[in-house]
Amino acid sequence: RRQSRRIGPLAGKNCLVTAGPTHEPLDPVRYLANRSSGKQGYALAEALADLGAEVTLISGPTALRPPAGGAVSFCETARQMRDLALKAARSTAFDAAICTAAVADWRPAHVQDQKIKKTGKDDLPPPLALLPNPDILAELSEPSPSRPRLVIGFAAETETVEAHARAKLARKGCDWIVANNVGAGSDVMGGSENQVILITQDKVEHWPRLSKEEVARRLATTLADWFLKPHKS
Ligand code: CTP
Ligand code: CA
Repeated sequence: RRQSRRIGPLAGKNCLVTAGPTHEPLDPVRYLANRSSGKQGYALAEALADLGAEVTLISGPTALRPPAGGAVSFCETARQMRDLALKAARSTAFDAAICTAAVADWRPAHVQDQKIKKTGKDDLPPPLALLPNPDILAELSEPSPSRPRLVIGFAAETETVEAHARAKLARKGCDWIVANNVGAGSDVMGGSENQVILITQDKVEHWPRLSKEEVARRLATTLADWFLKPHKS
């Protein structure tokens, strides 16, 4: 356990945050990815640190400057992100893990060493075979001595947000889920605002539309409150 010299309601708490997209290479010049700026995850890492937490940020490729002070590891693919997250969880007893990353659900089954070339103008596009990626949130949620005390997922949904998010909470085995509507017109992907529903085991809160920084601060505060009264998860 790292020694904390920070102050605030999360002083002494270790938090793991995954953020950003993952890139799944197809050949040296192409990849498959999710839309994600990383803004929500980076804002969360910063808000947790502002309340005194020791933050470990595991980030896919983004254009953002990581928050100062915390530990940051960068990766490209879902499998790299999974390896970094599980390795971190084995070496640090995390009080909370928050998976904000937009992990690519699938990766190209074959990564070509050379750029795939068009061969002629009437050629069909090459077939794209995919393989499923590991589910980092589900793996972190599995019962084990290194399971973070509280595991929180984000759920990107485009319709029936709350119902889908509840199903996801149950399926993944995490403790809380933060659901956001990323449907057409929501402007969440890449945007600076977010509107979320926080689902814990005993409550559902519909938050107003807020900046991603404000969503991050509220979530960090909710966590700090939970650590004071962890019985009501
Ligand atoms: N997640 C993850 N690893 C994956 C896929 C998702 O850790 N391979 C995490 C995300 O970081 C997020 C949560 O799981 O916290 C939900 O991600 P989402 O894409 O909304 O859910 P999926 O289970 O992948 O379902 P679907 O994309 O089909 O809605
Ligand atoms: Ca997904």
